[in-house]
Amino acid sequence: MCGIIGYFGKRNAAEILVDGLRRMEYRGYDSAGIACLNDGRIGLVKNAGKIKGLRERVDASEQAELLHATLGLGHTRWATHGAPNEINAHPHLDASGHFVMAHNGIIENYKSIKEGLAKHGIKCVSETDSEALVQLIAYCYNGNLEKAVSEALKKVKGTYGIVVMTDHEPGKLVAARCGSPIVIGIGNNETVVASDASAIIPHTRDALYLEDYDMAVITADGVQMFDLQHAPVSRDVTEMDWDSDAAEKGDYAHFMLKEIFEQPDAIRNAIRGRLDFDMGTSILSGLDFSPRDAAQIGRVLVVGCGTSMNAGMVGEYAIEEMAGIPAEVEQAAEFRYRNPIVTPHDLVVAISQSGETADTLAAVREAKHKGAVVAGLCNVVGSTIARETGRGVYLHAGPEIGVASTKAFTCQVAVMLMMALKLGRGRRMTRHEGEKISRWIERLPELIEKVLAQDETIKAVAQKYADHENAFFIGRGYLYPVALEGALKLKEISYIHAEGYHAAELKHGPIALLSENTPVVALLNNIPGKEKSIGNAEECKARKAPVIAVVSEGDEAAAEGFNDMIVVPDCPPCIAPIPTVVALQLLSYHIAAARGCEIDQPRNLAKSVTVE
Ligand code: F6R
Repeated sequence: MCGIIGYFGKRNAAEILVDGLRRMEYRGYDSAGIACLNDGRIGLVKNAGKIKGLRERVDASEQAELLHATLGLGHTRWATHGAPNEINAHPHLDASGHFVMAHNGIIENYKSIKEGLAKHGIKCVSETDSEALVQLIAYCYNGNLEKAVSEALKKVKGTYGIVVMTDHEPGKLVAARCGSPIVIGIGNNETVVASDASAIIPHTRDALYLEDYDMAVITADGVQMFDLQHAPVSRDVTEMDWDSDAAEKGDYAHFMLKEIFEQPDAIRNAIRGRLDFDMGTSILSGLDFSPRDAAQIGRVLVVGCGTSMNAGMVGEYAIEEMAGIPAEVEQAAEFRYRNPIVTPHDLVVAISQSGETADTLAAVREAKHKGAVVAGLCNVVGSTIARETGRGVYLHAGPEIGVASTKAFTCQVAVMLMMALKLGRGRRMTRHEGEKISRWIERLPELIEKVLAQDETIKAVAQKYADHENAFFIGRGYLYPVALEGALKLKEISYIHAEGYHAAELKHGPIALLSENTPVVALLNNIPGKEKSIGNAEECKARKAPVIAVVSEGDEAAAEGFNDMIVVPDCPPCIAPIPTVVALQLLSYHIAAARGCEIDQPRNLAKSVTVE
């Protein structure tokens, strides 16, 4: 969703800010702006639309404040309150024009703040909740910016990540957070503050992560941290492990395609050093259960949203199969609001690529409150979910920039398999069985490479179906979550209406929709239930629906009589989701490309969903 950047140093701030905003484009946005402070004056430029447009306006600007400043802040906005236009775009100025701020999150009591300010003759010009906050900060100002910020924040209900500055104190940036991430990159004689590590890694790897209710004051003397009562707080500087090339597209047409092709390496990183073939188990140091602790786990609850929830469903099946522990996956918002039954013997696993998804974070807090042991499975190091869970496993997939999640899904599944293996070996699984599964996990990069080698074949299939407006994906067992994920991928990037269904469920209603215009992607891999799924695909064919059969290598006969075939490596059921989903990612990608869609930034979507 929205992105924030701030810079204080010796270089040209406008350039660094616009480049930082470009690096955060993937999060999804509809307008952007920067403000710079030079010679005691604030320069501001905003643009409804793409960063390219903002850059052109900055380049064409005659404001010396913008062109020569070494201090400034910027923002990409994903509209919540008010249309995506220039007035509503951030940064927002207060009525006096002396204070400027960028805000992520939602100020829930903005109406009453605006009403209160109006009584003092202060009028807001935008429809946003955010403007109320900068006006309030200006109203609270009494010669010290950080004091005004903390006074104002004490009156706020909601969530915020903010960066603010004033021309009354031209050598200072103040940042604060509650529920919306803020990271501070400590460079050589410069400081970059952002809501997203991708905007910081080109400048420095040393980062300070703000906790809720922390405030950072950035000056030429460095960074000082306080709580809202002005008591100093201390946070450790940690090293970010992503390099800046990983956040560039290189020769690929889209980040999504790059990330699909990165999956063999991403999985290698996710499993490196984590498999113990001798003992037939996995070593997940962040999940430091002793076998005795593992034996106490009565149930595993997996919570997440979207793609992460689909990966969690594969995990649910694997944990039940390998460890014999009852497992359930639940949409995180549902878990949070329906007052779930959680016991101290439950292990709650929160899955989130970004580690910032509002509903998943809320589910983590609810589970902790109810006394469960909570573990995080995140990609972004130092993200809120990773920090609040305290224990868990990082994916090490590298930055995922494409809005449609690809490598995070396959790494999430790989990590869930290793978690199931560890729990299984602590219980009923034999060393021999454990070793067999470990060897298959080790082979995942090779299995993915085999699918990637068929890119052209899959592209040819995709081009045949690019003009359809509806599609179904069906599967059973371990391939049911893959059908859900395949449909999600197709709908989000190609805007084709796609539904993932259990193969057996189709005839309980949705089959009414089938016609020659409704292709069905049938997952007919060689796993238990295959024959029944073939029968379900035949039922689709009998209703004239074109069937694209996904089958295992060596079992091509399973595709006989269907319209098209995609072949994936033959492997055990728990392994099959990974190579199979890669084929579906390519299928969706090529369909979306043939339709000319904006693949990396699909309409209405945001990479990190930090509002409920
Ligand atoms: C789909 C997609 C989303 C995310 C979901 C959760 O391609 O990316 O469905 O999976 O918004 O995000 P994280 O994993 O960051 O919690």
